[in-house]
Amino acid sequence: MSEAGHANGKITSVLSEQRVFLPPPDFQKKAHVSSLDAYSKLRAHAADSETYWAAEARERLSWFQDFDQVLKWQAPFAQWFVGGKINASYNCLDRHVEAGRGDKTALIWEGEPGETRRYTYSQLLEEVCRCAQAIKQLDITKGDRVTIYMPLIPEMLIAVLACARIGAPHSVVFGGFSAEALASRNNDAQAKLMITADGGYRRGNIVPLKENVDAALPHSPSVKNVLVVKRSGHIDRSTWHQERDHDWHEMLAAQEPFCPAEPLDSEHPLFILYTSGSTGKPKGILHTTAGYLLGATSSFHYIFDHREEDIFWCTADLGWITGHTYVAYGPLANGATVLMYEGAPNAPDPSRFWKIIERHKVSILYTAPTAIRAFIKWGDEHIDGHDLSSLRLLGSVGEPINPEAWTWYHSKIGGGRCPIVDTWWQTETGSIMISPLPGATPTIPGTATRPFFGIDVDVVDKHGVSVPDNTGGFLVIKKPWPSMLRNIYGDPERYEHTYWSHIPGMYFTGDGARRDSHGNFWIMGRIDDVLNVAGHRLSTMEIESALVSHPAVAEAAVVGKPDEIKGESICCFVTLEAKTQPSELLKQELRQHVAEQIGALARPDEVRFSDSLPKTRSGKIMRRLLRDIAAQRSSVGDMTTLEDFGVLERLRAEDEENA
Ligand code: PRX
Repeated sequence: MSEAGHANGKITSVLSEQRVFLPPPDFQKKAHVSSLDAYSKLRAHAADSETYWAAEARERLSWFQDFDQVLKWQAPFAQWFVGGKINASYNCLDRHVEAGRGDKTALIWEGEPGETRRYTYSQLLEEVCRCAQAIKQLDITKGDRVTIYMPLIPEMLIAVLACARIGAPHSVVFGGFSAEALASRNNDAQAKLMITADGGYRRGNIVPLKENVDAALPHSPSVKNVLVVKRSGHIDRSTWHQERDHDWHEMLAAQEPFCPAEPLDSEHPLFILYTSGSTGKPKGILHTTAGYLLGATSSFHYIFDHREEDIFWCTADLGWITGHTYVAYGPLANGATVLMYEGAPNAPDPSRFWKIIERHKVSILYTAPTAIRAFIKWGDEHIDGHDLSSLRLLGSVGEPINPEAWTWYHSKIGGGRCPIVDTWWQTETGSIMISPLPGATPTIPGTATRPFFGIDVDVVDKHGVSVPDNTGGFLVIKKPWPSMLRNIYGDPERYEHTYWSHIPGMYFTGDGARRDSHGNFWIMGRIDDVLNVAGHRLSTMEIESALVSHPAVAEAAVVGKPDEIKGESICCFVTLEAKTQPSELLKQELRQHVAEQIGALARPDEVRFSDSLPKTRSGKIMRRLLRDIAAQRSSVGDMTTLEDFGVLERLRAEDEENA
């Protein structure tokens, strides 16, 4: 493989990346879409997007009642498949069992300590039915919100599908969030029930989920009941709140093994998922049933080129959108076999992923660049000797993948024979928007390549005018699509403002991008005050609010700093209250304080004390300057070129002007 572009062992320029990898002929032969020509034809056909999506909806989903209107668009509010009745849990389970595939393995699960469990589609359906009955008994009816705060164990997937079955929108909160963050999400959603576990495993430690729930609930009065799975066994049941806490295992065992799936309107809310925006308060992204499910199902079929015999492993936690769409809904609606692993990639040692792939013959691996960069750092010796020949396709998601990581992934993990799909999308888009089709699209390390069928993506200037090829601009989506978010839960004004006001008539992604002369999209990164730390979205303002809630802090500004493994790390500039002395101890205390307010994933990497913060005449903090200061002292890795930084700064300035 060419070493062109390497300088001092590092790839220094993304823009000069030119190596083209064609789909391997063996892969191509059997692929659903097997040439660029076929992709282009299908894409042209899908340009009439309503006709296209209507046909897809009837082909890929099972309906209790057909829809009579494809799209009702009262900008910026969309309703898809109006008049239809459908159920996501039915589509993920019952229909496969009814079609005689009940004995197919739906789920292979591995716990961090090493145990394995398998569920066939029939078994998963039975558990989901029992759970659905149990939560009904806990007073949950159609429309009531349920918070799920669990480790990545089969019961988490069961809980998600049980909520979908009875039409109770789930709000999954990632197990790494703190009690404070949990309480504020419970309150925003006005959740009535929580489903949790006593604890989960992470690098051999127990994540104290039940303790966090106990600390959160005095501050979230809407929650009346808690259903608790026994996983870690580290807490004594005598500490339970007898009126409020219920034993999952006892309750499920007492239920009937079948509970019919509720026919729901297409637009019935399926879930709320909180994500960070550029202001302090997390946004409850609302997705509804039919459109979301179609985006998940259709993209999984084409982009992962799903085949009956595949073992599909998406390494994301169900606490993130990637887990919702490509651990749960997308694969299961396609009748796939899903692998789920509870723990960390380096538990008990850095070979864990490769052991899992070898043991379970995983054929498709979908993971994040931050993980790939960590594997590179840990060393090839942890991979050598493991049989990875079952792999046929690799995927990447969550952040731009640097060419060095791409080519390593391709050769070391994929043995040079597996195509890579670099998939661009967001919590808000619900499913993949830009990606290669593995049997059709020539790939170049660093680009997510082309838009998916029926998705109208563009790069524009601040007036909404398309920019010429190879010019940086704002990434927008110009037409509504089925799996788009419908609203920010309880805050339609913020929805309109955040996504539809920057460039009127277009969905504003918050990302900067450029398109090359072949029609490939190169994503540059966020132009707003959102950080992408190890593939997790964090708001600088949210971290700033957490910092200033500490009595020692007068003012704080948070910026991202390039990081070779995590993509970005969190760098905080803090001015202290008069009479408070800066110290190393205080730095540690502030880092811990942020972790307690938000969660360990938001723990700052660096805290710097400063007498004052640079401000404009109108009093706005000059983040651009702080980003420069933060970046200067770090060895800027191979994540993004300096040219990209320049473009992003220009776009940020333009966006501020517009706001
Ligand atoms: O900046 C983009 C980046 O992740 C953001 C979305 O984050 P989230 O809603 O947490 O969803 C992550 C998983 C879908 C985007 O605005 N991003 C996601 N995928 C890519 C990416 N950046 C570059 N390339 C990608 N493939």
